[in-house]
Amino acid sequence: MIKKAVAILYKKEPSELIKFIFFYIIRRNPHQAKSFSHLKYFLKEKIGFEIGGPSAVFMKNGIFPVYQIADRIDNCNFRSKTIWEGNIKDGQTFFFNLKKAPGRQFFSEATDLDVIESDSYDFILSSHVLEHCANPILALSEWTRLLKENGLLIIFLPRKDHTFDHRRPITTMEHLISDFITNIREDDLTHMPEILALHDLELDHAAGDFDSFKSRSLQNFENRCFHHHVFDTELIAKLVDYMHLQIIALEIIPPIHLLIVAKKISKELIDNSIYTFK
Ligand SMILES: C[S@@+](CC[C@H](N)C(=O)[O-])C[C@H]1O[C@@H](n2cnc3c(N)ncnc32)[C@H](O)[C@@H]1O
Repeated sequence: MIKKAVAILYKKEPSELIKFIFFYIIRRNPHQAKSFSHLKYFLKEKIGFEIGGPSAVFMKNGIFPVYQIADRIDNCNFRSKTIWEGNIKDGQTFFFNLKKAPGRQFFSEATDLDVIESDSYDFILSSHVLEHCANPILALSEWTRLLKENGLLIIFLPRKDHTFDHRRPITTMEHLISDFITNIREDDLTHMPEILALHDLELDHAAGDFDSFKSRSLQNFENRCFHHHVFDTELIAKLVDYMHLQIIALEIIPPIHLLIVAKKISKELIDNSIYTFK
């Protein structure tokens, strides 16, 4: 940063100097989500729950650095060994900020968190998890149940055009509702033919060749690598509206993230018309 400041002063280019002051001194982290700058006042010293963490987006210098300011964050994952985190231990083992006591690690399905009481948390976090859930409405109804009134749900999703999903169609809201009504569970493989046909293996080296990818897909219940559904801003806005949550922010954060922040308030006060074009 010092080198960059010296170079700008040497060039005596006022527009670059203004940009430098704005990004490096006022905003500090130029990649930070716009909504974080005002939501941080609500999140400071609060207690949260993450599904499928830890996540780089929530770390110091991340896009939404809530780990730095929260008082405590608990976490859940579906099992004690995952492809992303390796081995995980239950108990007070969720290290979200080395200056704070670790949060509690649970092992539970994202769609079945009945070990946790309702209205327990000020905010819920999930980064690149909801697309792995076979029944997103069931997952969101659990996540919302854990939230206190006025609590925030903060969800990151991948932008399909910048991932191995780029050839797949966006899921419809009707499909998500049907998954909920028919009580689809995590062992569901109905998306497998579409995934095998359209997944771009060139953008997913960890999946290996087609045969390894197919056998990993058949064992999805054990590894949870599937993106069951494919989201865009319109679908996630419709889904959050369907869950009776007030949308506070909806951002595209290049290259790969969609971010939605929603608030739990009483149904009668909700108006998401500017996000859902109703
Ligand atoms: C793509 S990884 C994202 C990891 C991390 N949040 C990040 O942003 O780097 C998906 C995470 O969700 C977890 N996960 C997937 N399906 C789940 C489920 N049904 N219940 C709980 N956790 C789940 C995975 O084990 C993993 O931790």
